[in-house]
Amino acid sequence: VRLDVAFTPAELRGAAGRRAIVVIDVLRATSTIIHALVNGAKSVLPVASIEDAARKAEQIGRDAVLLCGERDSLPVRGFQLGNAPEEFTAERVAGKTLVMSTTNGTTAVLAAAGADHVCIAALLNIGAVARQLVARGEDALLLCAGREGAFALEDAACAGRIIRRVHAEVGSVAGNDAAWAALRLGARPATERALARTAAGRRLREIGRGADIVFCAHEDRYDVVPILDEHRVTL
Ligand code: MLT
Repeated sequence: VRLDVAFTPAELRGAAGRRAIVVIDVLRATSTIIHALVNGAKSVLPVASIEDAARKAEQIGRDAVLLCGERDSLPVRGFQLGNAPEEFTAERVAGKTLVMSTTNGTTAVLAAAGADHVCIAALLNIGAVARQLVARGEDALLLCAGREGAFALEDAACAGRIIRRVHAEVGSVAGNDAAWAALRLGARPATERALARTAAGRRLREIGRGADIVFCAHEDRYDVVPILDEHRVTL
C-alpha cells in the first residue's frame, strides 16, 4: 500500500480522480468533528464561509442546525458554538446537524470532496483510521489542513503516527518524501507540551484554550472513522 502526505491543501491540486483522502486538522477542526459525532451529532456540514453557513442554516431550517466554527480560533458572532471540542457535549449536539466553518480544517475537507473516499482523522482516532486503511488496502493521501496555507507540525506528526500504525500492520508502506518526513515527526506520540509549542498551540494558549490542546493530544480516545459523503460528515 502507498500512503502519500500533502502538508497543505495547495499540494492536493484537485481531489478528482483520487481514490482515498484522509483529512487531518489536529488543532482543532477534525478533533472537534470526531468528538461531536461521537456525542451524537447527526452530521457535520463543512462550509467555506460564514455567509455559506448562514445560507445552509436557512435551507435546512434554523431549528435543526447549530452553526459552529471559528475565525482566528475565536467563536464567530451569531454562531451557537465555536471550535473547542469540549463545547460539543451530548446535551448540545445530539441529534443536531452542525454547519461548520473553520479557517483551515473545513477548507481542507472541502478540498478533498472530489475523491472517492474521504475520511476524517486526528490523534483522537489514529488507530481506527489506520485499521480502516489496512482493511481497504488501497493507496491513500493523508491531507494535512496546515495553517493558513502553511505547514503545521501537529498535522504532519499525526499523519506520521497513522503511517506508523499502518506500517506495523502490513510490514511495508511506500510513500512520497512528505510521508517519510511525517514518519520521522511521528516517531513518538505527540506530547501536550510539543503540541503547545506549535503555532496553533501557541494561539490556543494565548486565548486561554490550553485545555483543547490536552484534549486533542489524546491518541486513540475514539474508535470511529467519520466519512464525508454527499457534503456531509457522518460516522
Ligand atoms: C481550523 O480549522 O482552522 C482550526 O481548527 C483552527 C482552530 O480551531 O483554532
